[in-house]
Amino acid sequence: MTTRLEALSAAYLEGLRAYLEAASETGLAHAYELGRQAMADGLGLLDIAQLHRGALDTLVLPAAAADRERLLDAATAFFNELLAPFELSIEGYRAALTASEERFHLAVSGAMAGLWDWNPQTDEIYFSPQFKRIMGYEDSELPNEREAHFGAVHADDQDRVAQRMKAHLEDRLAYDIEYRVIAKSGEVRWVHSRGQALWNASGKPYRMVGWILDVTDRKRDEEALRTSQEEMRRLSVHIQQVREQEKARIARELHDDLGQQLTALKMATSLLEHAEDNDRARADQGALNGLYAMIDNLVQSVRHIAADLHPVILDDLGLIPAIDSLVDEFSARYGIRVIRHIDADAISFNRECRIDMFRMVQEALTNVARHSGATEVVLDIERVDPHCIVRIADNGRGAAHHGAKGRHSFGLLGMRERAALLGGEIRISTAPGKGFALTALLPLASIEAKPAP
Ligand SMILES: Nc1ncnc2c1ncn2[C@@H]1O[C@H](COP(=O)(O)OP(=O)(O)OP(=O)(O)O)[C@@H](O)[C@H]1O
Ligand SMILES: [Mg+2]
Repeated sequence: MTTRLEALSAAYLEGLRAYLEAASETGLAHAYELGRQAMADGLGLLDIAQLHRGALDTLVLPAAAADRERLLDAATAFFNELLAPFELSIEGYRAALTASEERFHLAVSGAMAGLWDWNPQTDEIYFSPQFKRIMGYEDSELPNEREAHFGAVHADDQDRVAQRMKAHLEDRLAYDIEYRVIAKSGEVRWVHSRGQALWNASGKPYRMVGWILDVTDRKRDEEALRTSQEEMRRLSVHIQQVREQEKARIARELHDDLGQQLTALKMATSLLEHAEDNDRARADQGALNGLYAMIDNLVQSVRHIAADLHPVILDDLGLIPAIDSLVDEFSARYGIRVIRHIDADAISFNRECRIDMFRMVQEALTNVARHSGATEVVLDIERVDPHCIVRIADNGRGAAHHGAKGRHSFGLLGMRERAALLGGEIRISTAPGKGFALTALLPLASIEAKPAP
């Protein structure tokens, strides 16, 4: 640097001397060139000022007093020309700085991401307005203090966030994490946060910059998907079990009920065969009557078993008569009055939806019998375009929840599944002491038989 300064000093003295002797444009151009040279050499304004002072001492001070003022003016003009490249560069720098600041502000204000910029040495931190908005605050409401954010991290996630931050600052592992924050409203929101630190030569972090993105909606969707997959898994396990239990029940009924009746029938037939001739005529009529009664019972039992497996009446007479007969049986068995508002004449139910709709009503009525303690049920089936609405409402004790997802409750889950398969949904309205009302909204498009082309 010193040699450069010395070289420049000599050139400056030479140039100024020539300019003082004959002020010319070329002389000024030379001054400008020297200024560029000084900048390129990395000299500062103080160096230049010193150099100029030295030149004045050598060239202007010794001159005759009468000449000094003119010489001083010329030297100043020369010096100003030398400073011009410095001024231009400062102006350019300022313009570039303003542009880059404007760009930064535009980026910060338009971004979806909330930015943060932290100095781990002084603990100073900057949060962009969007950062504060994600937390539910206006720009002026949240101070630029680290605690303002880290204090709002969900208690269960604080350790994880602190560990990842430490791992980044100390071991330089990536800082890329999702965690929960408590927003101003108290609502829990999920954020995705990434950051990058800068380390000085001695390995100390002196700055860390990053962003957060609000990913609450995505997290909620993932959560809902996980829950529904879990429910589906439980439901399918349950269906397997029910199938096995059903087989066991049918086997038991066939064995205990039909088996015994058939054995009795066989014995009675055999008795009839071996009866003494003189008894036979007398025995004939009574024994035959007994056999007929047994056969009637058998037929009855077979009907019951078959009806449980699949209500034949559904196929023979259709959905509404099958529901009517179900309701009659329900009222007779549990002594609960059912008021029917069935106005479905305008709907011709297709074959595919019948069993689903029948099972939904059946499960709802079973729930009424099991859980409600009701004395009365209102059953509505009506057409409200573009839906068919099936509503089963009781006047019982109701429930505090809308069908809890208990480990062993599958009735409502199965109904929801059936409704979803038909493109519809189940809505529940209940409260303790206020009865339980279940509504199935089923699109007519999927339950009505298509008119023959
Ligand atoms: N009509 C009703 N009145 C009061 N509570 C009801 C009624 N229907 C359902 N519930 C409540 O909703 C819960 C869930 O019903 P769901 O049919 O899914 O299961 P469940 O009847 O308990 O068992 P299952 O799997 O055998 O049907 C019930 O346990 C009960 O607490
Ligand atoms: Mg149930």
